[in-house]
Amino acid sequence: MADAKLPTAKLIDGKAFAAGLQQRVAAGVRELVATGAPKPGLATVLVGADPASQVYVRSKGKLAAELGMASFDHRLGPETAEAELLALIATLNADPAINGILVQLPLPKHIDTACVLLAIDPAKDVDGFHPINVGRLGSIAAGAPLDFPVPCTPLGVSMLLQDALGSMAGLNAIVIGRSTLVGRPVAQLLLRLDCTVTITHSRTRDLASLCRQADIVVAAIGKPAFVRGDWIKPGAAVIDVGINRIPTADGKTRLVGDAAFAEILPVAGHLTPVPGGVGPMTVACLMFNTLQAARCAAGLAVSAA
Ligand code: GUN
Repeated sequence: MADAKLPTAKLIDGKAFAAGLQQRVAAGVRELVATGAPKPGLATVLVGADPASQVYVRSKGKLAAELGMASFDHRLGPETAEAELLALIATLNADPAINGILVQLPLPKHIDTACVLLAIDPAKDVDGFHPINVGRLGSIAAGAPLDFPVPCTPLGVSMLLQDALGSMAGLNAIVIGRSTLVGRPVAQLLLRLDCTVTITHSRTRDLASLCRQADIVVAAIGKPAFVRGDWIKPGAAVIDVGINRIPTADGKTRLVGDAAFAEILPVAGHLTPVPGGVGPMTVACLMFNTLQAARCAAGLAVSAA
């Protein structure tokens, strides 16, 4: 007799979904330009020479250009005074060719990040980090349109879940991690989609049993393989936002998520891999947000994701 076959999660292909989203953004850019509006413009600002940040900023500018947008790359030295950065932001805020402003984080220690984010015009805040946009997301009604910029990684998480599950009304969702960049905005987006949401963190008691009640698990805690297979309700959707670089025996490193992939694969209904899950969605959603900002600037309604 054949062994009883273990259920195996369907892998959510974030790379393919992000590629499709990019194609839709490119089509949206063509449609916008055909109305006589200028190309959407994305300004990226990098302070200092952090190698990883340089790679990220370059890839964002390159993708913007590939999708038919104008890209403006601003590089400032590591000793740049906060006032100089604020002056650049004021110039970008006033420039009608710029629809999106992205200040790459982290900023050098001598610069007050909150003050810089506050200086960005909320309509051009394609990261969704301005307190006005944070507040809009925090007070959004169920099902209301996302007609303001929403942080890119959380937006990517909600798009992947909607694509995989369809309606999520009434599902129990657990968000592991309460960061302002990921955990909290993910929770707000899932609440908007009528999930019953639990936000957990390092001080949460009996996380495993809370997790076992969840139909949707979003792991965003920054600890490799933290979420274990026996925490997962059979058939649940597990979205792994973690990107942890761990050393391997051969002296190299490899990327692992916050979820124990091999343990969860036979239990979950859906699972995002790392890499190739949530990661590619972040930059695709940045492009989506830039198009939306350009549509708003041209007096058009935002488009659905
Ligand atoms: N640094 C790492 N991720 C991000 C991001 O999504 N936006 C910005 N501005 N900086 C980052």
